[in-house]
Amino acid sequence: MKALILSGGKGTRLRPLTYTGAKQLVPVANKPILWYGIEGIVAAGITDIGIIISPETGEEVKEKTGDGSRFGAKITYILQSEPAGLAHAVKVAQPFLGDSPFIMYLGDNLIQSQLDLFLENFKKNQLDALILLRPVPNPTAFGVAKVDENGRVLQLVEKPKVPPSNLALVGIYFFAPTIHEAIAQINPSARGELEITDAIQKQIDTQKHVEACSLEGWWLDTGKKDDLLSANQIILDSCIATPVTEFKTDATSQIIGRVQIGEGTEIINSTVRGPVVIGENCRIENSFIGPYSSIADRVTMIDADIEHSVILQGAKISGIHQRIVDSVIGQRAQLVNAPPRPKALRFMIGDDSQIELV
Ligand code: TTP
Repeated sequence: MKALILSGGKGTRLRPLTYTGAKQLVPVANKPILWYGIEGIVAAGITDIGIIISPETGEEVKEKTGDGSRFGAKITYILQSEPAGLAHAVKVAQPFLGDSPFIMYLGDNLIQSQLDLFLENFKKNQLDALILLRPVPNPTAFGVAKVDENGRVLQLVEKPKVPPSNLALVGIYFFAPTIHEAIAQINPSARGELEITDAIQKQIDTQKHVEACSLEGWWLDTGKKDDLLSANQIILDSCIATPVTEFKTDATSQIIGRVQIGEGTEIINSTVRGPVVIGENCRIENSFIGPYSSIADRVTMIDADIEHSVILQGAKISGIHQRIVDSVIGQRAQLVNAPPRPKALRFMIGDDSQIELV
């Protein structure tokens, strides 16, 4: 059994962050989203992992993630020259996959469940495909499945105008090598992509054995800002277990609740109220960091007040006298000098940014 993680794509929904970096490397509780997927796959006993990368962000993914040894796995990087669809990614990976069954994992998805029970089901029943489903309130935004009472999949449609059910496909699939024949028989969809839903539909139409399991626990597709913040909240809640670090503060600082602080970080005249994770070599001065915040390495915060936000490496926030909430602030971004009652606000901010002054 092998694994194929998709870490290419366009990432339009997380712009402007994805103009300069891979969305799968955006940190959740200070760890790249992609790494949670790798860890889940290794925990299920699969260590031969291929990762699909794009020409734009592939080098960064490779450099940060490495050859897999840190996860106890062997990683092979596979370049997809353009984001031509999930089934296209499988096609490109065919030399790596050979005739092995495999798990396909979308690199921006996070799930609470472990993978082993699904893997056991897939192997025991000798399925051609096993998909995971989850009821959602807005099925038109997803791949949607219609299943019979025994869990057999009858029909799949990508982002349907009239959904046949409210069961969305989670971004984790198990495939036998018969999926390659199905992919060879499909054509690009109206949006110009080779759709994995069309390939699975082809398997169904040719009487292959396609089943579905329902996914319990949380599932987050971190491709959008609010989903990313929810993922950050859930992971901080479940992963930061210890009440307080043994971190030594100065006399005027307070660290309350579950807080993790990296080496070389200084906290001066500030309050940190967990759950919070702060990376290495940060400087936090005259500031408040409230619950559900993740502060990456080398962040500077001076006279700032933040809550329920994700701050990426090397960002600097100083002299902002209103609380910053529900925000994602990119690497090396600078937010400086807002007086208490600003006369004017000056920004230099990339395309597609969203600013809410409330
Ligand atoms: P999506 O989130 O569906 O697509 P996207 O990354 O292009 O994002 P957006 O909709 O915001 O523009 O992709 C799911 C995952 O699969 C994601 O990790 C990117 C990856 N992917 C590839 O590796 N190759 C592809 O051709 C596509 C479409 C996605």
